[in-house]
Amino acid sequence: MPGTVLYEREGHIATITYNRPEVLNAIDGELREDLNAAWVQFRDDEKAWVGIVTGSGRAFSAGADLRGGGAPPSGTFWEVPSLSSLESGLEVWKPVIAAVNGYCLGFALTLVAACDFVIASDQAQFGFPEVTLGIPTIQGAIRMPKRVGWQNAMELLLLGERVDADRAKEMGLVWKVVPHDELMAEAKTLAERLLKPAPLAIRATKEVASRGQEVPFMEAIRFGETMRRVAGATEDATEGRTARAEGREPDWQAR
Ligand code: COA
Repeated sequence: MPGTVLYEREGHIATITYNRPEVLNAIDGELREDLNAAWVQFRDDEKAWVGIVTGSGRAFSAGADLRGGGAPPSGTFWEVPSLSSLESGLEVWKPVIAAVNGYCLGFALTLVAACDFVIASDQAQFGFPEVTLGIPTIQGAIRMPKRVGWQNAMELLLLGERVDADRAKEMGLVWKVVPHDELMAEAKTLAERLLKPAPLAIRATKEVASRGQEVPFMEAIRFGETMRRVAGATEDATEGRTARAEGREPDWQAR
């Protein structure tokens, strides 16, 4: 029997799918565990170079399962901070595309804000309904201002209303809005484009971009230059230079 999250890989592209369509992919404890496991699988799958995350049925995900009572998965009163999920900081340096096929609410929107590209169906809707339920959004509140600017973040976080794909694009949350039926094809096309540059150089660049936000400038430069040395010493860096000199397409190995 398929789990609440599917992990499928085709060539170098892995697709992770929220899979509880009967409840609009609401996130209960089991789905959250399966989701975390899928991200770890993607991170560790040497053949997976680009990820796509989407939802089965008519929603991406309607957020936390409201029937579950909202208790943290550990069962303790206080959430125990961990880096076990993408939205809470699991380090995944491979590029990730969110293909948002419908409702994308609460904790699902927090996950989308941790993705590198967001492609939205013209039927997608985004929102943080938490405040309308009397509870604050935490990780969404931490991520959103940097992602979409203060005012847009407050629109989402404090009003608790849903916005459509065009408004989400306008605020910079969405990279591209596409007709619903073309969503997965568009996500795959972008994934294929992300397979053209060298995978390790992409990962090094994403890691530098991410860590560079968190540390002082000189530390960021020193870290980045060290990464340049490391990535520059890979077989793929040699292949890139050779292929260019020979006028052919490079054959990347992620080594
Ligand atoms: N938790 C548990 N079940 C949920 C759910 C959630 N967050 N969101 C939707 N579902 C279930 C519904 O209970 C319904 O199940 P049922 O057919 O057994 O009654 C099914 O999914 C379909 O949802 P429905 O409300 O009938 O669809 P809709 O198109 O009329 O409305 C939403 C869609 C997303 C607007 C509405 O479902 C909604 O507001 N959901 C809650 C969103 C939310 O507050 N999430 C919490 C974030 S912290």
